Amino acid sequence: MNNTVFFDSDVSDQVRRQQLYDGQLFAYSARPSIKAFTDFAKSMIEDAFGGLDPQVAQNSMAVEEYAELLGKLKPTFIHHPESKRHVQAILQDFGCDLERTYFDVPRMRSSTSDGYLTTGIALAWHPHRDTWYSAPSCQINWWLPIYAIQSSNAMAFHPRYWTEPVENNSADYNYYVWNKLHRGQNITKMIKSDPRPLPRASHPMELDPQTRLICPVGGIVLFSAAQMHSSVPNTSGVTRFSIDFRTVHLDDAAARRGAPNIDSSCTGTVMRDFLCAADLSKMPDDIIALYDDGTEASGDLVYKPQLEEVRGS
Ligand SMILES: [Fe+2]
Repeated sequence: MNNTVFFDSDVSDQVRRQQLYDGQLFAYSARPSIKAFTDFAKSMIEDAFGGLDPQVAQNSMAVEEYAELLGKLKPTFIHHPESKRHVQAILQDFGCDLERTYFDVPRMRSSTSDGYLTTGIALAWHPHRDTWYSAPSCQINWWLPIYAIQSSNAMAFHPRYWTEPVENNSADYNYYVWNKLHRGQNITKMIKSDPRPLPRASHPMELDPQTRLICPVGGIVLFSAAQMHSSVPNTSGVTRFSIDFRTVHLDDAAARRGAPNIDSSCTGTVMRDFLCAADLSKMPDDIIALYDDGTEASGDLVYKPQLEEVRGS
């Protein structure tokens, strides 16, 4: 049953992973390792916005200029060596075995208020599972706010869909084709619409009741890549800035452990994007081979994030 939110749980990483694969959620109070990361992100954001308060800068900037700014800020954050170092420190703090835990580069996300910018570089995420986007079933998502969040600018979980399949078009999504078609695409120009063919539900979903976990700055939320989640329509009056990154444990990947797949039909795998938390080495080829499905020749195997927010929020 998926009906539990564990707060400040002190179970081992192994037990935590299994609980996540069973559909449970984990939330943690503020910790110095995360606060160090949010301080780093905050200073980068504040430098980018100059004298403007980043949470309300949308009120005094042209949306084109705003998208342009995010288009420089986000890739700088994603690629910064310090960002990787912070993720490594967080994983260590959370009791992960760094030799066997792999992570992908952390993304910075923004959710502007009142529909100011909800496409392209600041996409407001429709309900989805990351497993519709070629994530393995053992992927775990780590999500943390950079500034204080509230219910009206948070992220929502839709737990009933943990066991309820949703008809969707993930069958049209191949990770390598996506990389080839959308790598380097200038999404800062997508300020009114977003023509990218992102996997989504084929029919309207019942999004209520939903669960929004409001952790403080320095806190973090963990969830399975198979968990249905979405961006809350931001009506708070302030822009939400957050960070997320993903992990895969080598043993779980090797044993094909993970959340059940009830409705995902995408092809390709993001496994090649993951780096070892101990030394930043790549995922071993024999593990990746377990996830190959014969579409490896259809595009670019690895995504090199430039102006992007995708894959998966
Ligand atoms: Fe996502």
